Amino acid sequence: MSSVSVVGLGAMGTALADALLAAGHTTTVWNRTPAKADPLVERGARRAGSVAEAAGAAEVVVFCVLGYADVHTLVDAAQDALRGRVVVNLTNGSPDEARELADKVRALGAEYLDGGIMAVPAMIGRPEALVLYSGSTPAFEGHREVLKVFGRAVCLGDDAGRAPLYDLALLTGMYGMFAGFLQSAALVRSAGADVEEFTTALLVPWLHAMTGALPEMAAQAAKGAYPAAGSNLAMQVAHDALGDLGRAQGVSTELLAPLFELMRRRVADGHGDEGLAGVVELLHRP
Ligand SMILES: NC(=O)c1ccc[n+]([C@@H]2O[C@H](COP(=O)([O-])OP(=O)(O)OC[C@H]3O[C@@H](n4cnc5c(N)ncnc54)[C@H](OP(=O)(O)O)[C@@H]3O)[C@@H](O)[C@H]2O)c1
Repeated sequence: MSSVSVVGLGAMGTALADALLAAGHTTTVWNRTPAKADPLVERGARRAGSVAEAAGAAEVVVFCVLGYADVHTLVDAAQDALRGRVVVNLTNGSPDEARELADKVRALGAEYLDGGIMAVPAMIGRPEALVLYSGSTPAFEGHREVLKVFGRAVCLGDDAGRAPLYDLALLTGMYGMFAGFLQSAALVRSAGADVEEFTTALLVPWLHAMTGALPEMAAQAAKGAYPAAGSNLAMQVAHDALGDLGRAQGVSTELLAPLFELMRRRVADGHGDEGLAGVVELLHRP
């Protein structure tokens, strides 16, 4: 069993500390508003009187607060108490923020792991939770058993910025899926049809089936070559079928219109015989 401190006991930090306690790790907790530590102390956690005390109490110090500016303030407060520790920052931010914090923590003589939590608090400690890590690979390997307590732990290498990049890229994929759901729910509801039945019986299996196309599209994006597999881009935008339907049903088309505009631009650029994945060339030029 390891000793772990959790700094920041909001909804997520509390779930992380509870998972550590459930796994039998010696868990020390600190929160800016001290009363939030009370329930965890009742469940067996040790209370630290300051961030420095929390840092000094454990091999692994987990930070989970609102933003990187808050983590900087807390690291400044802990300073020398962090020497020789592994700092695991599970606060959300950007890749550059992660790299900057990694440099600061390393300069204090600690190892740094950045983490992206792909879960809500209720999922922490359950197999469906995924936490992405990057930064010190030796620190990840050395403390893998502790990190696995939160959920599936995946290490993405030495660049501290990689975990936040993948975290945000995964959220991007998720919001794209939700955008499609919102538009189809509005269309079905506008026709007076049963949105729940439509979603459960038809949309969810359809989306599952469509995810099967993603590995091939990803291979095409990696190569920069986009042969159409049966459904070329010109065919997909030959008619503004989705726009026409939205207008006919009184449903705004503003959500997906930018995607169709990009598809039409790609066709106008001479790529109508290629597949949809070629749109990535309009989003990013290598
Ligand atoms: N909740 C989720 O579903 C979820 C999922 C993935 C990732 N995350 C990430 O996890 C992190 C924490 O989220 P949360 O849901 O736990 O948020 P939360 O419930 O709002 O808690 C925020 C925590 O940050 C602390 N804090 C804020 N500013 C601070 C400062 N200047 N100094 C010290 N402590 C400060 C708060 O302390 P006080 O109690 O004193 O206010 C509190 O402990 C965020 O970066 C979030 O993006 C959350």
